[in-house]
Amino acid sequence: MNIGVVGMGFVGSVTAAVLADQGNAIIALDIDPEKIEKLSSGNIPIFEPGLKELVLKNKKNLKFTTDYKMLKDLGIIFVAVATPNLNGKIDLEYVYKAIRSVVSVNNDAIVVIKSTVIPGTGSKIENEFNVKIVSNPEFLREGNAIDDTVHPDRIIIGGEEEYAEKVANIWKFTHAPILITTRENAELIKYASNSFLATKISFINEIANLCEKIPNADVETVAKGMGYDRRIGPLFLKAGIGYGGSCFPKDIDAFIAYARELGEDMRIIKAAKNVNEDRIVRIINILKKKFGKIKGLNILQLGISFKENTNDLRESQALKLYYLLIKNGANVTVFDPINSVKGINFCKNLDNCLNDVDVIVVATEWPDFKKIENMHIKIPLIDGRRILDPEKFEKYVGIGRYCGD
Ligand code: UGA
Repeated sequence: MNIGVVGMGFVGSVTAAVLADQGNAIIALDIDPEKIEKLSSGNIPIFEPGLKELVLKNKKNLKFTTDYKMLKDLGIIFVAVATPNLNGKIDLEYVYKAIRSVVSVNNDAIVVIKSTVIPGTGSKIENEFNVKIVSNPEFLREGNAIDDTVHPDRIIIGGEEEYAEKVANIWKFTHAPILITTRENAELIKYASNSFLATKISFINEIANLCEKIPNADVETVAKGMGYDRRIGPLFLKAGIGYGGSCFPKDIDAFIAYARELGEDMRIIKAAKNVNEDRIVRIINILKKKFGKIKGLNILQLGISFKENTNDLRESQALKLYYLLIKNGANVTVFDPINSVKGINFCKNLDNCLNDVDVIVVATEWPDFKKIENMHIKIPLIDGRRILDPEKFEKYVGIGRYCGD
């Protein structure tokens, strides 16, 4: 099948590569010539495990372009452009621009919105532009994007049945359950899912706070015990320094603002956001308790991205923690397996990072940090992600673990 994909960010580039791998001929468009240039020459502008290989493998099925005219004969065009926030509310400018450009060359195609948009957006655009709109929200995670696209838990499609079925056919290869519904339900499912996941994280983080006050308590075991209950499930119960990234924080703000306009106060979601904002302050408090003050402390921070396997620093709690530590007068050096940030002091090789360090703080859940378990570390270590074995350290403090009075 000939398919168009507009927007070569995480969602667009992975969608294009996976659909090409399924034998479809893909026209992949972005308005940024530099991005297109890189993609055409096999230099993937984002860090996503496996993406480069998939793009190179399917070179002949993938045509990268900046020219909307290339979409004129296509029957199905995915739109996967960014939907950032403006003053806490969703900014649909890029979606509108993309759809206006698509319609200017082709108003017969089914336009499939993959971007996260507030409920009602698809229907509004359909009326305004007189174009067939189907909503097909994306649930992939950065760092795991290809596997999530090939083996998703579900496919959600919103729109008129005739068009929705055509989009469903594209995803049949995944063998995932396909739910065809209204556009509004599809759009809502995306926000409700992200908000629920963020709430799940904040919930376990609040239990972690409590565990720190109870002798013999450990959030890891509490989460494990809870997770055996199939109604709760074991996933997304990992306590840490909070959620970040390009999706949860922005989607939660947009959802709260959207609901407010409808006269609804999303109390639970607001609480989840509140708990999340407090996470890095808790690390500051642990340090203050342990060392009396933070000013002048030499800290080695492990990780700067919002989670492992990514170079994405958007809304990264680790990055926010770094700035908060600096604000409190600490001297911070960061080690991260792939990332560096201008203005931040990075240490390139973990083996050489430990000189003159007073305390180590784990801020991102990179599996590479496990290596430190065998380095006979004698200085205090604060595990903000609970990825290390406490037994391997002389002075281990883990969030969500009893830490004395
Ligand atoms: C998230 C959703 O998981 C995807 O389903 C969704 O498609 C995507 O947003 C999106 O809307 O585009 P992503 O932001 O890539 O995906 O990352 P996650 O793996 O969900 O992690 C988000 C944050 O939560 C990270 O900072 C991670 O460290 C944190 N987290 C995750 C925890 O603190 N504990 C957990 O148990 C899980």
